[in-house]
Amino acid sequence: MNEVVGNIEQERQDVYNALVGLDAFGFWLVQADMEPAEPPVREKPHVWRFAEFEPLLHRAAEIVPHELADRRGIILRNPGCDPTRPSTTNTQYCAYSIYNPGEVFTPHIHSAAASRMLLESDGKGYTNVEGEKCYLERGDLIITPGGTWHDHGNEGNEPMIWVDMLDIPVSILFNAAKFGWDYKENGVKMDRQSTTRSHLYSKRHFGVGGIRPRFAQTRLGNDTGSPQLHWKYEDVRSVLDATRDETGDPYDGIIVDYVNVMDGGPVQKTQNFSMQLIRPGEHTLSHRHTNSTVYVCIEGSGATIINGKKYDWTENDVFCVPSYHWHEHVNANAKEDAVIYSVSDAPALEKLGLFWEERKTSSGSIVTSGNTISS
Ligand SMILES: [Fe+2]
Ligand SMILES: [Fe+2]
Repeated sequence: MNEVVGNIEQERQDVYNALVGLDAFGFWLVQADMEPAEPPVREKPHVWRFAEFEPLLHRAAEIVPHELADRRGIILRNPGCDPTRPSTTNTQYCAYSIYNPGEVFTPHIHSAAASRMLLESDGKGYTNVEGEKCYLERGDLIITPGGTWHDHGNEGNEPMIWVDMLDIPVSILFNAAKFGWDYKENGVKMDRQSTTRSHLYSKRHFGVGGIRPRFAQTRLGNDTGSPQLHWKYEDVRSVLDATRDETGDPYDGIIVDYVNVMDGGPVQKTQNFSMQLIRPGEHTLSHRHTNSTVYVCIEGSGATIINGKKYDWTENDVFCVPSYHWHEHVNANAKEDAVIYSVSDAPALEKLGLFWEERKTSSGSIVTSGNTISS
């Protein structure tokens, strides 16, 4: 062992400087950051109020031609996120998008998983995913799995507004973000995909639980995920209604997940989609988990208490619960239902072995568990 001579602080500094010169550093200098007792979460709870965005969306639709905005989305930036990489949570981009009557947005493809939740239209706005032309009505969910061609348009007479949820931050994290725009059919570049599967094709083939036509095509583009692309709100709402007298989930009320008919799991590899009914007067218990979640209020109004602070929300508002924040949902209205849609990154965390959850019981004690998906 070499004998330390002179000023030991100076000796340490010399070692640090030498390591920096070798593109390295001493673990002991960053140990506290690398071994936190709890997840260090940069993102903040937040509500984006639709009433504040709606006039800006319509103004953008008037003055931002779609030639300038290849998809006219307004990305909702979390106030705590890395300003050099704005996103809604650590793993998701959420945006309000508006499409004018008659607009056609050209086909593109990307590695990121994407989805749309329809807020407003006259039923003639669409997404075409790998040839299935899906016309959306309020509350409908369309998924665009990574590696599938898709294009958007509005054949109606009213603007179409939806909420996009994409896992772009995940693909950026893995240095796997990739887009393509050169869509061709038979070698000819096209400004839209031909419709090869009619409206609600995938719902007809995969949308009834426990039944699947043997001849149904289950693979779309480069994706190996859910072959069902379109879920109607009326179907989801009917399940919420049919189960509303059950006890439900103590942390989420009457909640349903959209599932991949092929394996019963989440419909996207990195995103879990849910719809939940918070019944009149219901106040759920509190839990926290390492997945982060973005919500959209579809019906009614209510509040979510996040780390002790109350965040009110009403129809079309978007709000987020960042990773490992205690949260509980409240519907204080004695008569009206509250229905909230949510997208979480729980499937990605589970696959990576990073899912962790703590639950408060009705007596206030804390139970730690893992390996279950929660919104
Ligand atoms: Fe896209
Ligand atoms: Fe939760």
